[in-house]
Amino acid sequence: FTEPQFRDPLLSWYQKNKRPLPWRLVWMQTQDPYVVWVSEIMLQQTVIKAVIPAYDRFLKAFPSYKHLADASEDQVRLASRGLGYYRRFRMLHQAAQHLNDHPEDVWPTNFKAWKALPGVGDYTAAAIASICFNDAVPVVDGNVERVFCRLFDIRLIPNLPRLKRKFFELGQSLISVSHPGDYNQAVMELGQTICTKQNPNCSQCPVAKVCLAKNNSSQTLAPQSKQK
Ligand code: ADE
Repeated sequence: FTEPQFRDPLLSWYQKNKRPLPWRLVWMQTQDPYVVWVSEIMLQQTVIKAVIPAYDRFLKAFPSYKHLADASEDQVRLASRGLGYYRRFRMLHQAAQHLNDHPEDVWPTNFKAWKALPGVGDYTAAAIASICFNDAVPVVDGNVERVFCRLFDIRLIPNLPRLKRKFFELGQSLISVSHPGDYNQAVMELGQTICTKQNPNCSQCPVAKVCLAKNNSSQTLAPQSKQK
């Protein structure tokens, strides 16, 4: 299949079916990268259902990066309680203070610059840069890997850096250059809601037509659990 045969139906499906997650609504209203940044830090280690209430609480406590920069460590700890992995919020706090203390440094506007901030790795930098700055860098998380494994009927995932790079390259070839943020969120959402680990819902899948695993009836074979 060709890239547009995957990308185009996926983007149309996302436009019609995307969930009104709070960070998507706040981003639409404010166009403030800070609100996407907070969401992506929370989503690093935590399921969406648990993030939603914590996200609202955190943004009420710290509506902008300046509010966060001015907060005490105890206030940050309190606002992020219950989510675990507290270190990510300490790094977020420090990064906000850094941006606040160095107004001469411009706010990061692409993947590379975001990655330079503490607590922001490949995955988070790709999400923020694509959603907020249209930088066409693919997000590759567990959901995206599973979607790709099924799409190309890759049945075993050896846990190798080489394979990570392979997934990243697949993402680069498939991503929408005009709507990279929607594309990235669409693949993640497909993995979360349709192309789930158990019982993938192929009858509702916008890209079933081009899916190799679907065509080979091996949806439950691809991928097998990771081989260490
Ligand atoms: N997981 C991490 N970031 C996400 C996002 N922006 N939308 C949906 N799921 C996500």
